[in-house]
Amino acid sequence: MPVIKARNIAWCRLRAPDLDVMEQFLTDFGLVRAERTETALYMRGTGPRPFIHVTEQGPAGFIGFAYEAESAADLEKVAQLPGASGIEDLEVPGGGRRVVLREPNGYQIEVVHGMGQVAPIAPEPLMRRSFDPSMRKGAARVVRLAHGVFATPDPRATLDWFHETLGFIKTDELWVGDKFVGGFYRVDAGEDPVDHHVIFCNRNERAGMHHVSFEVQDVNDVFFGHNHLKMAGRDYEHIRGISRHALGSQIFDYWMSPYDQMHEHWSSNERFNSDSAANDIQIAEGLQHEGGEKPSERFVKQSTP
Ligand SMILES: [Fe+2]
Repeated sequence: MPVIKARNIAWCRLRAPDLDVMEQFLTDFGLVRAERTETALYMRGTGPRPFIHVTEQGPAGFIGFAYEAESAADLEKVAQLPGASGIEDLEVPGGGRRVVLREPNGYQIEVVHGMGQVAPIAPEPLMRRSFDPSMRKGAARVVRLAHGVFATPDPRATLDWFHETLGFIKTDELWVGDKFVGGFYRVDAGEDPVDHHVIFCNRNERAGMHHVSFEVQDVNDVFFGHNHLKMAGRDYEHIRGISRHALGSQIFDYWMSPYDQMHEHWSSNERFNSDSAANDIQIAEGLQHEGGEKPSERFVKQSTP
């Protein structure tokens, strides 16, 4: 039995030396500033979470992900785990409390509960205005954080930890012959529908963050959001897309932040519950590239320590 069943991913926590540069990228990517302090930048989507992306000022890198516990009692359960912090008050927009854990690669996992919510931002309608040649120019409308992905030398140990600690369950596992190369695990919310995955672990010699993924309002946002990043005049590095993963029916587009942290725009209508089939997939068949484009070495080997 897992210690708890976490309900969702709450935020990613990254580091960057220049918060102005990071805020410009994230704004171009489609997030909205929630709060900025001297040492941290909090960005939100259009959804009700007070923020979904944190950047702390410091050397560029990856700190960890936060996941939401269903109850205060669940937070107390994880606080009892070996190496866990005590229950701490969060000094962030929305408040709440957290317990800090370390996953097997050493990254910080915050288990959080009791955050407030904010009024959602009504997505700007795709209306052609009197002065526009087309219905939309501008950034993608990012709604929420969807999943976080680890690069790790030991995807099995990492996924076992997330299963045993936070209750994530297998959706699809990837194999090359008898070598386990990675797994997509989702939230176990019983009969309630959830995404194809809340975490993916990709085998890599270097541990780190592979990417962090944000759901956008509509599949159109993936396209005009791509255009906006390309035309921003700030030389953002495009990594992969626009294309579609067979697994989870996800339409995707991947971009690097100016500090080598991969961010994904994502849209999918496929949903899963506790009855959905779990599959073992030989990678050649599971990762068919419906856009006809093989992922580059740069994409496959990506890891932000
Ligand atoms: Fe992704």
